Amino acid sequence: GIDLGKLLAKIGMVTLDPGFVNTASCSSGITYIDGDAGILRYRGYPIEQLAEHSTFLETSYLLIYGTLPTQTELDEFTDRIRRHTLLHEDLKRFFDGFPRDAHPMPVLSSAVSALSTFYQDSLNPFDDRQVEMSTIRLLAKLPTIAAYAYKKSVGQPFLYPDNSMGLVENFLRMTFGLPAEPYSPDPVLTKALDQLFILHADHEQNCSTSTVRLVGSSQANMFASISAGINALFGPLHGGANQAVLEMLDGIRHNGGDVDTFVRKVKNKEDGVKLMGFGHRVYKNYDPRAAIIKKTADEVLGKLGGDDELLGIAKALEERALSDDYFVQRKLYPNVDFYTGLIYRAMGFPTRMFTVLFALGRLPGWIAHWREMMKDPATKIGRPRQVYTGEPERAYVPASER
Ligand code: ACO
Repeated sequence: GIDLGKLLAKIGMVTLDPGFVNTASCSSGITYIDGDAGILRYRGYPIEQLAEHSTFLETSYLLIYGTLPTQTELDEFTDRIRRHTLLHEDLKRFFDGFPRDAHPMPVLSSAVSALSTFYQDSLNPFDDRQVEMSTIRLLAKLPTIAAYAYKKSVGQPFLYPDNSMGLVENFLRMTFGLPAEPYSPDPVLTKALDQLFILHADHEQNCSTSTVRLVGSSQANMFASISAGINALFGPLHGGANQAVLEMLDGIRHNGGDVDTFVRKVKNKEDGVKLMGFGHRVYKNYDPRAAIIKKTADEVLGKLGGDDELLGIAKALEERALSDDYFVQRKLYPNVDFYTGLIYRAMGFPTRMFTVLFALGRLPGWIAHWREMMKDPATKIGRPRQVYTGEPERAYVPASER
């Protein structure tokens, strides 16, 4: 077999592909997407079946280890995670150093980066036992870190994890509970958040996962790689879109709920306004995750009492866009983020926590990709080429002569 990459390099050819629209960076056996047909599968299982029947921890196991666990395997996995939910007391003090109005995403990535200073015994990417320890530590501690980032922003005391609870329930308790008041999350809310985490758990070579792989390709440890992924997720064109959607809907309501005027602005590309929560690099059809979430939004908002007016604006926007040539021709459909913000708000999360929730869901996907890459003999350090467009050679002129 001819190695096309090596051959092109030998004759000095590079491909220019901004945004990697047509470039595969790796082979992967984790997630399958058919963007034209609107299909998403984790390890071969359709997302619809996992969303209906699985749990977030079971799906995490599936993504990371490649098979659905037996009941005993799942119990052991759950139990190991349960025993690692506490944060080191010194790490807890980090939160005091951030300004009160800090966005929780950089707080999250900083704390995850700091984990590599606390757990120096699990940093070797080629030692299976150490990789396993980092995996469990991250899955267990990220919900605690996320809850503390929230508590910091509202000036409330941190709660220790209560390990009699499940992962999602515990996260909700640490987020919304208070020391003197017993808090047990509504099971409807726990189930819905668990399902949203399943829907976010992996999406092959998206921006944050590619970032995790690129950083990891230098053999950086798992904490460092995933901290970088969290920063990539923060951007409004990626995970930050769920926050941007809610801000967009609030803005439309503020201007009297006029959907038509907003859509006109988007079509005219006025001030770069986009219909946030629409469009996807891979899906040129309805995002299958959005279809599930739309149903959940109706159920959850019905039970928890959500913002019906905002849901109405979202539905009107979707209907308006799906029947408009601009969106039809460009194959722009709602993506996973179009309805999640409405659900998160109904659950009581402030807008700035939305992307943190995305990160909690995406974590097992990042871990699975990092581990797959480290085991793949074809892995090389990620080092793209460029097409140089700068000055030709010129001679240095001393400052006194310029
Ligand atoms: N609103 C209006 N127009 C849009 C939108 C949108 N949301 N998305 C794409 N377009 C237009 C572009 O302006 C472009 O039009 P043109 O051909 O006239 O120039 C055309 O559709 C193609 O779009 P690209 O930007 O080339 O598509 P790309 O694959 O690079 O971008 C992206 C995908 C970033 C998701 C884009 O659709 C977008 O910005 N959407 C809004 C942000 C968003 O919801 N992000 C979440 C993505 S999902 C996730 O991360 C979970």
